[in-house]
Amino acid sequence: MLVPILLLLPLCGFGSFFTLPYSDDDGPGFEDMFKTNNKSYENVAIQFDHPLPTWLRGTLVRNGPGQVEMGSRRYLNYFDGYAKLHSWTFPGNGSAFFTAKMIKSKSYLSSIEKKDIQPYLTFDGVSPPFDEVDRFKWMTLNNDDMNVNVFNYQNRTVAISDIWQMYEFDLKTLDTIGSVLPPTPPSKFSNIGKKSEMACAHPVPEYGKSSRFEIIKTLSLIPGTKDRLTVVRITSLDNTEIVAEWETEKSHYMHSFSVTENYVILFAAPYTISVMKMLETCSVGGGMVWDDEANTTIYVVDINTGAVHTLQTENVFVTHHINAFELQDGRIVMDLPTQKNPFAFNYYDFSYLSNQTDRMKILSLPILKRYTIDLRTKTVTKSVFKCGPKAPCACALEMPVFNENYRHLNYCYIYGMVVNYNGKGFSQIALVKKNVCNESGDLMYASLHQYFTEPWFVPTPGGKNEDDGVLLASAYDGDKRTSYLLMLDPKTMTEINRSYTPTMVPFNFHGRFFNMI
Ligand SMILES: [Fe+2]
Repeated sequence: MLVPILLLLPLCGFGSFFTLPYSDDDGPGFEDMFKTNNKSYENVAIQFDHPLPTWLRGTLVRNGPGQVEMGSRRYLNYFDGYAKLHSWTFPGNGSAFFTAKMIKSKSYLSSIEKKDIQPYLTFDGVSPPFDEVDRFKWMTLNNDDMNVNVFNYQNRTVAISDIWQMYEFDLKTLDTIGSVLPPTPPSKFSNIGKKSEMACAHPVPEYGKSSRFEIIKTLSLIPGTKDRLTVVRITSLDNTEIVAEWETEKSHYMHSFSVTENYVILFAAPYTISVMKMLETCSVGGGMVWDDEANTTIYVVDINTGAVHTLQTENVFVTHHINAFELQDGRIVMDLPTQKNPFAFNYYDFSYLSNQTDRMKILSLPILKRYTIDLRTKTVTKSVFKCGPKAPCACALEMPVFNENYRHLNYCYIYGMVVNYNGKGFSQIALVKKNVCNESGDLMYASLHQYFTEPWFVPTPGGKNEDDGVLLASAYDGDKRTSYLLMLDPKTMTEINRSYTPTMVPFNFHGRFFNMI
């Protein structure tokens, strides 16, 4: 299942600190970003306004939906669109190249062949709805379209989602190589009546090693039997091993998790998956249940021993973990954009996205918090970050990224996007830099009728400061109705370069910069 992200909703410039020089709530062109564009491009030369830094050598890949209908049937939620990859390649000689291709997944190819959306597992439904035969197939075909994120395992690059299956692709051409199903390490528990297909779309590197951690969520299909969580170390796409596994009363939806030098930390919010409800509604989203009174359970897994520590904290929902690290006294620190509930997933429903009036209805706002876990006292403390005057919306960021050279370490800067940054609706998107060491360093970038997706920070090789580098973001100009790649100076959050693309780049969820070897 997919369910990426974004839950946002701040109200930043709302109020005394920040006033925009315009009044805008119509979001011209905003809906364009959520429409089909399945056109292919391969290494088309593109021009930037200004010379490119020669140290910038590699490829930025973004993943997200590229087609939202097939034949006369369309998806009801943007989350379910067929995956499309976009890339910007920088050889380091001043040139740049753009590539865009649909992922040739089984579900996509079979849908093309049938000229209709085939009933693979999706987050939401389709219009017109499937008939009874297809509803039965829906229960048997797994989610197959990886439109959420990209990652690399020892130079093999894959598109991923919140499931264990992946699609490998060629980084130079974005051609689909094929479906990949890494081996599932053998469990000490019985797998009778279980389904072990769910994972997280955000695997996390292990400290000081090339391996990654991932979570497998095993669903019980037999009422009365337990679900299971497994922390897995992936050393390559052909080699995995169990770090820890344990049974749970319910299966919690988790899209990401934290890793420090010695621990993997899971936030199991009371957002659980009911198989029965899923089958009843023929929808993954319809099978997810939020309990607004239950605590969130925190699992802290000792990477070295496999021991699992269980703690409790407030009722809170978390989509994306940011960075986590250990203090000298052994306490664990983790930063999280928190939500009061998971209802912001509904903002990707087309009935909301395409309704300008509805897009003004924002129900909740993310709150950036720091949780500190002390395993000796079994306590969890939390603090809410304050926002600085230059970017009073910065604490409401989502889609967080940071300098990956500082992963597992004490750090200062988070970059992200803020939706509804001025209180004027979903189409109002700002890019922000949150300084968690000193809020006076908070900065933001916003521009009239310009719509941004998650940024990515590329560090300068050998850079001395944490914010030495460039910030890249896929953007859409609502006035010109064209897409472009925006390059910001992370130190000032001001534009330093841009390049328009030969075609519209639909709204995309996540991506990554792969250094040229
Ligand atoms: Fe995500």
